[in-house]
Amino acid sequence: MDFTYYGHSCFLVKVNGKEILFDPFISENPLAAHIDIGNINPDYILLSHGHGDHVSDVEQIARQSDASIISTFEVTSWFEKKGLKGHPMNYGGKWSFDFGTVKMVNAVHSSSMPDGSYGGNPAGFVVDSDNGTFYYAGDTALHQDMKQIREEFNLSCAVLPIGDNFTMGIEDALKASDYVGTDTIIGVHYDTFPYIEIEKEKTQELADKANKKVILPEIGTSINL
Ligand code: NI
Ligand code: MN
Repeated sequence: MDFTYYGHSCFLVKVNGKEILFDPFISENPLAAHIDIGNINPDYILLSHGHGDHVSDVEQIARQSDASIISTFEVTSWFEKKGLKGHPMNYGGKWSFDFGTVKMVNAVHSSSMPDGSYGGNPAGFVVDSDNGTFYYAGDTALHQDMKQIREEFNLSCAVLPIGDNFTMGIEDALKASDYVGTDTIIGVHYDTFPYIEIEKEKTQELADKANKKVILPEIGTSINL
């Protein structure tokens, strides 16, 4: 699997020839000013919840790419009213797509759409394929249900928020990686706003102490998982 980071909680994963984009918030993110969303043409867009810092570029990217939006029923319904394609899911549900399966798992956070309408509950995802398996937590606090992921899946890595204030910080993210059963974390949801600025050196020190690998990719770069 190839993983490309577009800043904040937005990344694109290539699995089995398909491109899956997560939580696009690029054109409004000054740290991602060098990314041209006109060049992003995924097959699917997965959305963890309805907050603007996860959905602001969905409409343009979905229209130009004809991508299908996979999210909770409330979020996909909101975008379907704009004429976009959606695949609704809810907690505990799994579906086989042409790249692999997606299981929707719970997240402890909040959710509303950019116009203030009801956004359902926030979610995380486990993407499982013969190319690898990873967990994207979305925006969430640490919670005990993460332990169920370890029972069901053998993860290559976990994409976890580490910016604190609105989500887990690094200490809880390190615990979360134990709960879900991986030692490799890709950190997201940090540095975009003053409330979530992190000290990268301290983050790496804490990870070293816990015998974990925390990867913080530069925006616009790709890594192989
Ligand atoms: Ni949020
Ligand atoms: Mn957020």
